[in-house]
Amino acid sequence: MPATDPAELLALARSIAVDAGELIRRRRAEGVTVAATKSTPQDVVTFADRESEDYIRGRLAEARPDDGFFGEESDATPGRSGITWVVDPIDGTVNYLYDIPAYAVSIAAVEGDPADPSTWTTLAGCVVNPVLGEVFSASHGGGAHLGERALAVNTDVALAQALVGTGFAYSAELRVKQGAVVTGLVGRVRDIRRAGSAALDLCSVAAGRLDAYAERGLNPWDYAAGALIVREAGGVAAGFAGAAPGSVMTLAGDAALLAELEPLVFELHRNAGLPL
Ligand code: IPD
Ligand code: CA
Ligand code: CA
Repeated sequence: MPATDPAELLALARSIAVDAGELIRRRRAEGVTVAATKSTPQDVVTFADRESEDYIRGRLAEARPDDGFFGEESDATPGRSGITWVVDPIDGTVNYLYDIPAYAVSIAAVEGDPADPSTWTTLAGCVVNPVLGEVFSASHGGGAHLGERALAVNTDVALAQALVGTGFAYSAELRVKQGAVVTGLVGRVRDIRRAGSAALDLCSVAAGRLDAYAERGLNPWDYAAGALIVREAGGVAAGFAGAAPGSVMTLAGDAALLAELEPLVFELHRNAGLPL
């Protein structure tokens, strides 16, 4: 049993994520402005991303001053409690910019070396889509929920019948190679979805709206909460060969389906010249 009660951490994550979701939804209605570009001209940050992260950070610091913080839009700070909060203040920023209602606030509490996501045990995670009013949550050992409803991943799905979510990086060079992977995958599965928010994609797997998910190039704030939600819904969230999810690969779904999907995705990555 972790030293800190996962249910308590989840209650805090949920309360802050819902309020931050309301904040970004309101800002979206007022009109969105790009504040800057980051890794590429396509990788934008809006003023709402920064405001949301500042808000979440402030609420966490007030409630749990000894915890560490690791968010997308500001510098990480180490903590003294062994707990680190991993935050994506808007996941699906490009959807947000275009007013496509598939963006989310993602907040997770993890235990482990803050500098090494492969050592993390995620204790609590919450992903909120404020447009649909959907609150996905999970605590370690406490199951995964959409609102009050318990979630379970789809089982007994053959690869050829699987609806598989994925996404693309902001780097055009990587995106082209990811396109080659999708070309190899699309004829082997039911179909592919690219919804534009990794956190929501993972929640979709947990909720049975996707059978599986595979994406390269994610950052910890994209998957920390969603991966716990998948696991607590009875699924697997991992990298290649049982590694932790990470930038090389994040796979999610029922174990039996991933046993078919993973070798195919691995081979397609190798064929596309992507480092493994
Ligand atoms: C992005 C989204 C997208 C995924 C990208 C992420 P952001 O996060 O999750 O679905 O394909 O890899 O970077 O930039 O909207 O927070
Ligand atoms: Ca993100
Ligand atoms: Ca983001």
